Amino acid sequence: MTEMLDAATDLTFVPVRRPLRTATAPTRGISDREREVVVRLGRRWQQGDAGILLSAVSLALRRDAGITLEHAGAGGVSLLRAAAAEYPNLRVDEVVRRHTAAPLKVRPVRWQRHPLSGPGPVPGNGAVAITGGLGGIGLSLAAGLAGAGHPLWLIDRRPVSNLPVAAQHLLGALAARGPVVVSRADTGARPPAAPFPIEHLVCAAGDLELCPVRELTADGLEDAATAKSRGLAGWVPALAPGGLRSVVAFGSVESRRPHRGFAAYALANELLRREAGRLRREHPSIRIVVAEWSLWSQVGMAAASADRAAGAGFAVVPPAWGVAATRALLAPGPDGPDDVVLGGPQSSAAQPLRVVAGVAGSAHSRTPDQVDRLLRLCRPAGANPPQHPSDPFEAGHRPGLGAGTGPVVRAVVRGRRVGCWLSPTDRWEALDRTP
Ligand SMILES: NC(=O)c1ccc[n+]([C@@H]2O[C@H](COP(=O)([O-])OP(=O)(O)OC[C@H]3O[C@@H](n4cnc5c(N)ncnc54)[C@H](OP(=O)(O)O)[C@@H]3O)[C@@H](O)[C@H]2O)c1
Repeated sequence: MTEMLDAATDLTFVPVRRPLRTATAPTRGISDREREVVVRLGRRWQQGDAGILLSAVSLALRRDAGITLEHAGAGGVSLLRAAAAEYPNLRVDEVVRRHTAAPLKVRPVRWQRHPLSGPGPVPGNGAVAITGGLGGIGLSLAAGLAGAGHPLWLIDRRPVSNLPVAAQHLLGALAARGPVVVSRADTGARPPAAPFPIEHLVCAAGDLELCPVRELTADGLEDAATAKSRGLAGWVPALAPGGLRSVVAFGSVESRRPHRGFAAYALANELLRREAGRLRREHPSIRIVVAEWSLWSQVGMAAASADRAAGAGFAVVPPAWGVAATRALLAPGPDGPDDVVLGGPQSSAAQPLRVVAGVAGSAHSRTPDQVDRLLRLCRPAGANPPQHPSDPFEAGHRPGLGAGTGPVVRAVVRGRRVGCWLSPTDRWEALDRTP
């Protein structure tokens, strides 16, 4: 399983950090200017914020105005971005308040690749608790981690008797190999006592209910948006005194650039990321990683649509790769990322385009005309001519301007820009691997 990870080419990315010191929280509320609705939230998400955001969206739509979200850490922009995906004329800006100077307009996140090395066994083979442990991904993780010798505690609100027969057999087989305890619990409630000391926690409990923004109610959104972050906020302090060393919280790339219908889910995953940041400060000895996944294939909530998504060029995570990546992230240590986007292996002959929407991706092709087509799709109107031909991302989006020569052209999509290389070269995106 570990050999599935390829540190040189996998689609794993971290945001380039721009330090933001937030202090003076704006007063919560909405002000209605002529062409702009300004919505202000505080330093942390508070009960009632969902209603404020929904009111701002409906006011902006009635006025045909844009929305600026000002906050000092509460977040909420993913909901507005999901609204903008449904109403393409809706302009959305995010402003973060800082200590001193003027409020800072948040620029689009820049991404850099973060190589994830194969984990080997997570040191010590300590016990792992998995919330959502009876879900599609939870059971895949359970199989991978039990196989590597970890005692398991699976927590889920779903009773074992409701699982398909094959999943019940899998559980039986895991329990025959080593300690596996299943507890029925809702992660929003106070965590039950752990059956044995837990060293690692995977928070994978989560719901996905698609709903357009105009049909969301304030109470429904509040519940859906805070479920994941509440779970994380309850479980980390509950397990910390027993020797918890590392946590992987399952988030989603939908929190970054949500698609239509994903507003509540996007917000839930944005709030999860923000809660993890707070918990990291409170528990500096515990490594807490938010893994923001693209769709998983074969298992879990996206199993039915993953093949079609892959056919459309989305990066899709094979379960064995996802399990290996989770194990790598669970290994405690100082060098791990805080938030990481995971899109699985890079493009292949079988799937020549793999893109994590709004983040990055890779594509490859044997012919320059296919790359030209890709460039036409991705090139922003009025793109500037080449500045630094040695960097394909600065090279005017022309195929063949990267280092190296050869018959295989590789194009790498970063945001809305495309860099191209002819292989062989020594760049990761253009390693001389026959597609
Ligand atoms: N699958 C993907 O492509 C994908 C992509 C990105 C992120 N994720 C994240 O990965 C995690 C696992 O997803 P999955 O695909 O394995 O989904 P899944 O098959 O639906 O499994 C989720 C499990 O969590 C349980 N659950 C939900 N809320 C709970 C709560 N409050 N307390 C206790 N149990 C709860 C569910 O129970 P019920 O059956 O009763 O709902 C279900 O058994 C989720 O957090 C999801 O957002 C998944």
